[in-house]
Amino acid sequence: MIATSTTLLDFLLETRTHSETICKPLQIEDYVVQPIVDVSPPKWHLGHTTWFFEDFILKKHKSDYQEYNSNFSFVFNSYYESMGARVVRTDRGNLSRPTVEEVYAYRKHVTHHLKELLEQTEASEELHSLVEIGIHHEKQHQELLLTDIKYILGNNPLQPMYTSDFSEYTPSQHKQEWIHKEAGIYEIGHHDDSFCYDNELGRHKVYLNDFKISNQLVTNKEYLEFIEDGGYEQVLLWHSEGWEWVKSLPTKAPQYWQKQEDNWFYFGLAGVKPLDLKAPATHLSYYEAFAYAQWKGCRLPTEFEWEASQDQLEWGQRWEWTESAYLPYPNYQKAPGALGEYNGKFMVSQKVLRGGSVATSDKHTRPTYRNFFHPQLRWQFTGIRLAQ
Ligand code: AVJ
Ligand code: FE
Repeated sequence: MIATSTTLLDFLLETRTHSETICKPLQIEDYVVQPIVDVSPPKWHLGHTTWFFEDFILKKHKSDYQEYNSNFSFVFNSYYESMGARVVRTDRGNLSRPTVEEVYAYRKHVTHHLKELLEQTEASEELHSLVEIGIHHEKQHQELLLTDIKYILGNNPLQPMYTSDFSEYTPSQHKQEWIHKEAGIYEIGHHDDSFCYDNELGRHKVYLNDFKISNQLVTNKEYLEFIEDGGYEQVLLWHSEGWEWVKSLPTKAPQYWQKQEDNWFYFGLAGVKPLDLKAPATHLSYYEAFAYAQWKGCRLPTEFEWEASQDQLEWGQRWEWTESAYLPYPNYQKAPGALGEYNGKFMVSQKVLRGGSVATSDKHTRPTYRNFFHPQLRWQFTGIRLAQ
């Protein structure tokens, strides 16, 4: 739906502010480090989301706009080959400059010009949809900010908390049940005129055999039974590359689990606490999700089974690994220009995740949303839903 420019402007300003709110509990040093290649420094996220608005919108759509700093495209371009050269991903943590203060000043400048642009003109359909993408892009980075902050703090030997009142799940009010779905033809993909990414479009029919899907996610208690039954030692439960991956793990357990004497503890955004058995299991790789499902005599749902039953599921606290490869839908069309690099070029060797997580920003995910990661990654709030 095309909202009026004021609504769009409010949505934009609220989003820009929220990224900064997420960073409030940080100390300056936390903004700069990159402990692994997948984790970007918070300062970089703040700059990159700003660069996105500057390069994709202001430079083209605001006539009096002057580039803020001609080096910033090099520093804050993530992966857009069509937008020129950039700092390689592994080196984002080497950027002691621009300083955090300079990045906040850059944010202020760009937000100010976006505000002027939306106030002075009636946004064309093109501008409107670019701003919408910019907002949702920043929301994706808000989730990455939280999970990257968690990784930075949780992998520091002092394991400092982020904030004492961050709750990583809301207890469920319902019992675990199996939802039965009939065989038949289901419609998959985004269909109304609200915002979505190009990878959700091209609504199409899919035939599904009858299946059962759990209304709930697997809990820590259930996952612990797998560990205690020697799940990580049973080669037959694992893919070949999953088994190689398991051998490299220092602790045979999800990320952020730590054993002290005979007790499991867990590093959460609120600090290290005894493992909460009722919480939905999280920080699992696809390999672990798959092995767990095998051990249970079940399987993971496909992304189509998930979408066809989502209105009967409890979802939104964990990203759920599906059995589906991240592939284009039959009528997939890349967005034109550099934005064509946003999603399409990653449609190889990755798995689709459905749902959303405790770190997902408001008004961001939806039943057709397709998240995607390589199978070994588990620093996001990933979890498991079973199917049969
Ligand atoms: C959809 C989460 C895999 O992390 O690269 C951020 C999100 N896209 N900027 C990613 C994204 C462009 C994307 N994921
Ligand atoms: Fe990005």
